[in-house]
Amino acid sequence: MKRALSQDDLKRMVGYKAVDDYVKSGTVIGLGTGSTAAHAVDRVGEKLKSGELKDIIAIPTSIRTKEQAEKLGIPLSTLDLHSDLDVAIDGADEVDPQLNLVKGGGGALFREKIVELCAKKFIVIVDESKICDGLGPGFPIPVEIVPFCHEHTMREISKLPALQGCVPVLRLGNIANNTPDGDKPAITDNGNYIVDLKFKTPIKDPVAAGQQLKATVGVVDHGLFAGMTTVCIVAGKEGVYIKE
Ligand code: 5RP
Repeated sequence: MKRALSQDDLKRMVGYKAVDDYVKSGTVIGLGTGSTAAHAVDRVGEKLKSGELKDIIAIPTSIRTKEQAEKLGIPLSTLDLHSDLDVAIDGADEVDPQLNLVKGGGGALFREKIVELCAKKFIVIVDESKICDGLGPGFPIPVEIVPFCHEHTMREISKLPALQGCVPVLRLGNIANNTPDGDKPAITDNGNYIVDLKFKTPIKDPVAAGQQLKATVGVVDHGLFAGMTTVCIVAGKEGVYIKE
């Protein structure tokens, strides 16, 4: 009897497809963070080893991804040296019908955003559970804030008009853990805190919400990635399909 596909199988399918379809030899690529992006990183390593891919330079979006890529022998660089990327591939926590995203479940949203904004193509890879009608209620929106006066910053965030009704919760425990636990604030790769914004109803205007968050002193960046996606590769029970 054929085994049913697990969520990890679906993540592998989209990770591999993104690399097979969008990563060419001689290019500069952005490597995302998380369990889905990890499959794409594995695939790049596999194809470099087999010689199918050559002369890749990769920019990782977190310390975890950097360590994974180093183990696989993927040549790495930074945005300081290479700020024009051909393509970036990353997972997401939620994808709305306009392909706006929530990202940062793994706490890497700032590095992900700065790298993915530099890519000509941003390929988002998800299993079908990430597809939603509106951002917010399905997955809290992560915001990276500086530790100084973080309780004040959290109060300021809760007053923003485009984020009405949100409850900001400081992420505790392991930064890479989507389910906050432990009793110490989780620390990002940049030495900051993450606040997860919980919503009961979808955010009406993700662009305005993002602008208001970005204009709040104490906020480094937020996990709303609006208007950035080139293509979203989705895997579900029916197979792999593209949303663009
Ligand atoms: C990390 C991220 C991840 O891409 C997002 O959390 C999805 O993770 P996963 O592929 O493990 O479900 O934004 O900051």
